[in-house]
Amino acid sequence: MVFREKFKNADQAFTFNDVILLPGWTEIEPSQAVVKTKATPKIELNVPYVSSPMDTVTESEMAIAMARNGGLGILHRNCTSEEEVDMARVVKRAEAVIIRDVITVNPDTTVEKLLSLMEEHHIKGFPVITKNGKLTGIVTWRDVRLAEKELLVKEVMTKKVITGPENIDLEDAKKLLHKYKIEKLPIVDDTGHVKGLITMKDITLKGENPDALRDEEGRLLVGAAVSPFDLERAKALDKYVDVIVTDVAHFHNRNCFEAAKKLLKEVSAEIIVGNIGTYQAAEDCLTKLDGVAGLRCGIGSGSICSTSVVTRAGAPTLYATSNAADAVKKYKANVGIISDGGMRNPGDIAVALSVGATAAMMGNVFAGCSESPGRLVAMEGRYYKEYYGMGSARARKKRFIQDRYSQPSKVINEGVEGWVPFRGPVKDIIIEFTGGLRAAMGYIGASNILEMWQKAKLAKITERGFQEIAPHDVTQAGPNRSL
Ligand code: XMP
Repeated sequence: MVFREKFKNADQAFTFNDVILLPGWTEIEPSQAVVKTKATPKIELNVPYVSSPMDTVTESEMAIAMARNGGLGILHRNCTSEEEVDMARVVKRAEAVIIRDVITVNPDTTVEKLLSLMEEHHIKGFPVITKNGKLTGIVTWRDVRLAEKELLVKEVMTKKVITGPENIDLEDAKKLLHKYKIEKLPIVDDTGHVKGLITMKDITLKGENPDALRDEEGRLLVGAAVSPFDLERAKALDKYVDVIVTDVAHFHNRNCFEAAKKLLKEVSAEIIVGNIGTYQAAEDCLTKLDGVAGLRCGIGSGSICSTSVVTRAGAPTLYATSNAADAVKKYKANVGIISDGGMRNPGDIAVALSVGATAAMMGNVFAGCSESPGRLVAMEGRYYKEYYGMGSARARKKRFIQDRYSQPSKVINEGVEGWVPFRGPVKDIIIEFTGGLRAAMGYIGASNILEMWQKAKLAKITERGFQEIAPHDVTQAGPNRSL
């Protein structure tokens, strides 16, 4: 081994700020560009955005907003397994043709307990079932809002329940809801057991959000993060989520691979593995693990990451993505390639897609939205939301995320804490980003993401060039200052 050779053979680990997209011959207008893509073989996204599994980014509210707008939310794991399952259940109950996971109460529940259940589950009505599981009534907000707290459900519920049979179609359900002026229609089998619930709210929502991602039962799609070592959590989530994402900073590790083999065998949801940073890591995921559905690429580029400062190890997202994409191409694998970390504007996403990504995972951008769980604060006349890395001291205080980072991380931090500008609802951000992405596709001449892979050409720019292509020599005013 000649040590000096290490410099000679050093790769150039390009990232977003190092390159620009070269304009190419175009026959399309941005409005014609199609931004549909896939996160995994089974999950088609209507927009190529995925929200990061971080506790200042994705809980139920964010996941619901992402899916309603055509993207995908990945629930964080910095909580108990039960709490993560609950978040997934909230997403799955937010919309459905028929709710299958019906929450019921028994006749002896007090009004006080019922009110707390309503608040806990964000539900305004419950079927009431007897000990042997048969439907005996229905109780809604209207029955209890003025009732004394000590009363029992059986004293306030509606006893004559309008129900539908198991094979009822949506049109007939609508007619019944309309005829009896009711909001909820329990679906019961021949023996009187509750098999589902159709609600007026879900029927009304169906016409809205045409870009929403839904499963075959009309429920919104959602993903969840797990440690590769937490098989039990993955199994608990399996019933409720569409995809599971392993959440470790350096997945290319023997222990992670061995653990992932078990996950892949015992979990039926699709599994995205990561994070990875090199061609070799991607190749190993594709050849040593059976049934991987996606690769999460990028180590150390995240806006809150301090991994590469602390350790000088990392694989910038753009570099990691292009390496993974080449391995995927070589093995003709049908997997999603998720670029993760460091993207702040639509141009970064366009560059990531140009080097083979199928979707972009973002924390910083979505942390600033109304639907993120972080606190909203006003500072010097502007609004900000709290955002911190999962390797920061703040996140690691809750012990659930400790194993995201390697052993030394138990004593050092690999993430920072801070604030991001408040950006408003997810819907607006997605519209803005998609507008920017389509404009980039217009410059490239790509009518869809596959064509971006084929047609996009990159040029390297210098640091001074980078300054020139950003607004300069003016004091900026007006919108878009944060982009
Ligand atoms: P952005 O740039 O969107 O990146 O804020 C979000 C991604 O960063 C990763 N992440 C971390 N990486 N230390 C790290 O090295 C951390 O504390 C940390 N927290 C999150 C993660 O991949 C996320 O999707």
